[in-house]
Amino acid sequence: MLDRPLVGPSILSADFAHLGREVKAVLRGGADYIHVDVMDGHFVRNLSMGPAICAAVRRAAPRAWIDVHLMVTDPAEFIDPFIDAGANHISLHIESVRKPAALIRKIQSRAATAGIALKPETPWKAVASLFMLADLFLVMSVHPGFSGQKFLPSALAKVRAIRARISDRQRVELDGGVNPSNARACIDAGCDALVSGSVIFASDNYTKVITQLRAGSGR
Ligand code: DX5
Ligand code: ZN
Repeated sequence: MLDRPLVGPSILSADFAHLGREVKAVLRGGADYIHVDVMDGHFVRNLSMGPAICAAVRRAAPRAWIDVHLMVTDPAEFIDPFIDAGANHISLHIESVRKPAALIRKIQSRAATAGIALKPETPWKAVASLFMLADLFLVMSVHPGFSGQKFLPSALAKVRAIRARISDRQRVELDGGVNPSNARACIDAGCDALVSGSVIFASDNYTKVITQLRAGSGR
């Protein structure tokens, strides 16, 4: 497993009226990367951010690692626009693609890292053919579409199953309902990247929450 859990705030919960300020604040507070949730109103019942928002994050934080989570019906259409907008990493959903390997290779050919995401009801075996290829496995611990939902503990068994089958250089990221109280269980299951939205941005002390998430301790 890579050295420590990374913490990536999901800007879906940020104050969009002050997005640049919010991005800088979480980075100052110790965030390892910025998680950008992209929703098309079709794959999930919500609309969120397009490449222009990603480019704005890049302008606000020229050196930040930007992790784009595509929750869209046709991810192939959006790989180039997001990489052109400054994304370092793109995850696409296994439920949305017929030939995931080709798209993962396409992302990697553009010098970005590639992840494959699984909805809560999707079994880990659905991504088994990608264990040698993807850089990251994004296990969803809520139903995609909205921040602020309750953590689904069944995601932990999926994290364990995937972690046991991939190398130490590949990451497992948990996304949805992650907070300081359940972060320890996430880390112990073998997850080394924690996405967290509402608990960070609702707090009046971003540094404290990010530190608690990474340490796997707190309330
Ligand atoms: C849900 C998104 C998550 C979400 C996380 O569809 O993929 O990244 O913003 O937010 P919290 O931590 O509030 O569940
Ligand atoms: Zn996400």
